[in-house]
Amino acid sequence: MRGPILAMSNILFLVALSSFSITSALLLTKPRQVYIVYLGEHAGEKAEEEILERHHGLLLSVKDSEEEARASLLYSYKHSLNGFAALLSEEEATELSERTEVVATFPSEGRWSPHTTRSWEFLGFEEGVVKLNGPDSSSGRRLPPGAEAGGEDVIVGVLDSGIWPESRSFGDDGLGPVPARWRGVCQEGDSFNRSSCNRKIIGARYYVKAYEATYGAVNTTNAYRSPRDHDGHGTHTASTVAGRTVPGVSALGGFAPGTASGGAPLARVAVYKVCWPIPGPNPNIENTCFEADMLAAIDDAVGDGVDVMSVSIGSNKPLRLADDGIAVGALHAATRGMVVVCSGGNSGPSPATVSNLAPWLLTVGASSIDRAFISPIKLGNGMVIMGQTVTPYQLPGNKAQCLPNSLAPEHVRGKIVVCLRGTGLRVEKGLEVKRAGGAAIVVGNPPAYGSEVPVDAHVLPGTAVSMADVNAILRYINSSSNPTAVLDRSRTVVDVKPSPVMAQFSSRGPNAIEPSILKPDVTAPGLNILAAWSEASSPTKLDGDNRVVKYNIVSGTSMSCPHVSATAVLLKSAHPDWSSAAIRSAIMTTATTSNAEGGPIMDADGTVAGPMDYGSGHIRPSHAMDPGLVYDASYQDYLLFACASGGAQLDRSLPCPASPPQPYDLNHPSLAIRGLNGTITVQRTVTNVGQQGSSLYSVAVVEPLGVSVKVWPSSLRFSRASEKKSFTIKIEAAKGRTGWRANGQFVAGSYTWSDGVHVVRSPIVVLVA
Ligand SMILES: *[C@@H]1O[C@H](CO)[C@@H](O)[C@H](O)[C@H]1NC(C)=O
Ligand SMILES: *[C@@H]1O[C@H](CO)[C@@H](O)[C@H](O)[C@H]1NC(C)=O
Ligand SMILES: *[C@@H]1O[C@H](CO)[C@@H](O)[C@H](O)[C@H]1NC(C)=O
Ligand SMILES: *[C@@H]1O[C@H](CO)[C@@H](O)[C@H](O)[C@H]1NC(C)=O
Repeated sequence: MRGPILAMSNILFLVALSSFSITSALLLTKPRQVYIVYLGEHAGEKAEEEILERHHGLLLSVKDSEEEARASLLYSYKHSLNGFAALLSEEEATELSERTEVVATFPSEGRWSPHTTRSWEFLGFEEGVVKLNGPDSSSGRRLPPGAEAGGEDVIVGVLDSGIWPESRSFGDDGLGPVPARWRGVCQEGDSFNRSSCNRKIIGARYYVKAYEATYGAVNTTNAYRSPRDHDGHGTHTASTVAGRTVPGVSALGGFAPGTASGGAPLARVAVYKVCWPIPGPNPNIENTCFEADMLAAIDDAVGDGVDVMSVSIGSNKPLRLADDGIAVGALHAATRGMVVVCSGGNSGPSPATVSNLAPWLLTVGASSIDRAFISPIKLGNGMVIMGQTVTPYQLPGNKAQCLPNSLAPEHVRGKIVVCLRGTGLRVEKGLEVKRAGGAAIVVGNPPAYGSEVPVDAHVLPGTAVSMADVNAILRYINSSSNPTAVLDRSRTVVDVKPSPVMAQFSSRGPNAIEPSILKPDVTAPGLNILAAWSEASSPTKLDGDNRVVKYNIVSGTSMSCPHVSATAVLLKSAHPDWSSAAIRSAIMTTATTSNAEGGPIMDADGTVAGPMDYGSGHIRPSHAMDPGLVYDASYQDYLLFACASGGAQLDRSLPCPASPPQPYDLNHPSLAIRGLNGTITVQRTVTNVGQQGSSLYSVAVVEPLGVSVKVWPSSLRFSRASEKKSFTIKIEAAKGRTGWRANGQFVAGSYTWSDGVHVVRSPIVVLVA
């Protein structure tokens, strides 16, 4: 098809920034709300009844009657952390927080899952979640030979919006019996019964008490009151971690054709549904996940026997450790060996936007893969521009934000409309062009997005182009009295260079709560990821889009998180005795800061990326299997860290010392120093996990600009496996003529231990005072 092409003036139409703030403000005026009452660790091994009795007793001490106490108790956390969630008035909560056995009392926040919303792209957020890998698997997924066979004994929990159990990605052919240590359940509910579970989906539960205490009963028009996924997000993340190898899959009529597989296709999946639609104008798009519900899920997952928990959910504001239910729940889970992997958020590229900030969480940024969905745009002047799309079409070719009701049909009818990214959802811009009678949409990048091109399943023919390409199109439109264009059929190409590139939307450091812990920890593929989808929602989730798909392509740190979860599953399978900290360390110290071509990993805007973008770097699963050395840390180490970081006492059994260590003294695989003024020295301890047992490691340092770094001893000799060796790092700000040379900005370097086989790298990030 062929058509005129037209640039619309750039109308910025700011739709009210979602109804969420209004709804929640009203709800907060309710006299009672859900609080989490946190009591630390369990004191010794206690029977479940005893724990329940103790929680009930505490609650009864602030309630008028036995009945009221029972009715207000939503959850008793009994497997890992000690505590409960209850409906309390502010006075009751304050009264409870003054009890000696209570460590902390905080309101259960409704957290955001990084889904698409009307306003998120404007706020720096982008579309939510998805992945699936064809044979054209990304550079992030080159697993070691034989690793595909691993993971059958490992159980991965997925904290999300549930699952679409009929997807072929969750078939159980050829899988052995459910691991004998599994203690979970298959909870029945709306369109979900025991036959929805199998030897792949070995357990499924849903948590809705805090949500319903806040919003009332789930509206079953847009959600199943059961583990079944209406949204698509949870199905996507679960199949990204552990989807079976399914041949002959393609998304949306032929894109990314080939074999679909999760990172750990034999791992067992345990579903913990905690995210539900927010009542309001966009229940299909806006979801929330309550802390009290998530905490109950994490606690049950520990009791059920989950090894790795994948959490593509983040808070919409940075939370202090003692107020962060997920951090607190994950600490107790990690102490019991669970690896908790979280998305860092989609609020980039502004600094200090990353969420999930505790050092015992593995926090993931998002970057591109080496696959693209190319669709040539032939302009009337003969120029050919490569767009990218996953919308099937073959068709001929206006600039605008293309927000709802912004386009006039008399200008748009029959034309290819060029729209800019920025405010509003990209797929919604397509819907608006269609409404106004346009023939097709070309979504162009403004400068901030550079060459990062996210693909979409538009409701009309459509494609997307980089900043340089949209400028070329706009120049052509300007220069021609009758601009035309032809959009050609698209095809999938691989080995795109350079890759990976950091995604513009990926949330950035520094850590807003504790700058001495670098976040995100690593980056992984999160742009244009193909994975299974819910058949109850359309690929765009927009009203008016009635398409049903089994697989969908989406972008977000929600998509990159399960890639790292899958890596943790494979590590857990290869090294069942490793601690949670050891597994996280292996993934971090083997990450790379180079792209597939050997150059530095770049940012979407064309600058060189750094630790605030990708932490330790891009994951390399095969290297992580054999890291050589690991940085381990214990529950006590983390409690001391919490004391050092804002004085949070997370457990009554370990009172904070009068002079706690510094936050950077935690034995962490990365090193961040804020406010360096003169000299500091830091101790670190590494544990030998190399197969050969004996080895000699020596250190290499890359000093941050204007900072001197000395490490001693400069070599470490190990004679057996599990041997530990400590070393000291001295970091000194260099003096210039007018004060510290690196004054007021973050500077980055690294120190690396190597025995010639293993390379154990730690980034150093310093902010000089
Ligand atoms: C369970 O659900 C499946 C599919 O939804 C249905 O075919 C089957 O009859 C149900 N089984 C029972 C026992 O309800
Ligand atoms: C449930 O959601 C539907 C669709 O969004 C809406 O029309 C209906 O009014 C809602 N029902 C209730 C009880 O809120
Ligand atoms: C196109 O023309 C408009 C109006 O003359 C101008 O503002 C804009 O910068 C031009 N765009 C390009 C890419 O040349
Ligand atoms: C750095 O240390 C010196 C001497 O201890 C002190 O006078 C100065 O105020 C410190 N500067 C900052 C920014 O903390």
